[in-house]
Amino acid sequence: MSRIAYVNGSYVPHAQASVHIEDRGYQFSDGVYEVWAIQNSKLRDHQQHLTRLQRSLSELDIPFTHTNRSLNMILGEVIRRNRVRNGMVYLQITRGVAPRDHSWAKDIIPSIVVTAKSVDPAQAANRAKTGVSVITLADLRWKRRDIKSVSLLPNVLAKQSARDKGAFEAWLVDEEGFVTEGTSSNAWIITQDNVLVTRSVNSDILSGVTRLSLLELAKELQLKTEQRKFTIDEAKQAKEAFISSATTLAMPVVKIDKSVIGTGSPGMAAQRLREAYIAQGYV
Ligand code: PDD
Repeated sequence: MSRIAYVNGSYVPHAQASVHIEDRGYQFSDGVYEVWAIQNSKLRDHQQHLTRLQRSLSELDIPFTHTNRSLNMILGEVIRRNRVRNGMVYLQITRGVAPRDHSWAKDIIPSIVVTAKSVDPAQAANRAKTGVSVITLADLRWKRRDIKSVSLLPNVLAKQSARDKGAFEAWLVDEEGFVTEGTSSNAWIITQDNVLVTRSVNSDILSGVTRLSLLELAKELQLKTEQRKFTIDEAKQAKEAFISSATTLAMPVVKIDKSVIGTGSPGMAAQRLREAYIAQGYV
């Protein structure tokens, strides 16, 4: 079955989907994006992603030219046309097309692209059974990481370094030695005395939607949580570690650089949170 993308008002074959060469997303990475997990043909944490999208747009002064209702219809239609039951939907909004100039005219019409793809849940389940490894690298990003901008060059370079070293993700580390987050995920540890720790949100990290849902789930599961910074050393001595995102959900981490975490197998708390989060999507 051929994939279908939504581009500026039309549903087109994925292979032919394109935007103009003077789209400011292409020339300046002047745009934002969102990624939703699709579980059982439904968008996970739908409203929270929409709210974050609107905040990202507003922080960059890009107008939101849809109503929530019309955007929801487009997302639903792309999922339906691509027959995605489990997977992800990607939405990108850039400031639009204009003759190249760093500053912008206020009347540019934003470009909107939506794609969706299926992900094999069995593959993710297998990965979660063994756990993944992460490496640590200096966080070279700008100071507004709270905006889900398509400007991801430091993220992609760090992710590629991780993959080149056989690791799944890179944890980025600030100038004081504290972990900020992963290149496309939030970072978590569970201390030896069973406290779930993840960095508190401000402009240092993206406020992960999955992170928030997991914090709520942790409360329901009566797990003690703390939102604070942690160093690489603390992480390496943790009982458990994991990452969270719309694409990985809660994914156990069993190795950080050369240090094995806990027993070297996925920890109990991370697995419980992952199972509970998945189960919630089937209610
Ligand atoms: N990334 N931090 C960063 C830098 C991210 O890029 C992401 C998500 C997260 C987790 O956010 P959420 O739980 O809302 O997915 C944290 C998406 C999945 C991506 O870039 O593909």
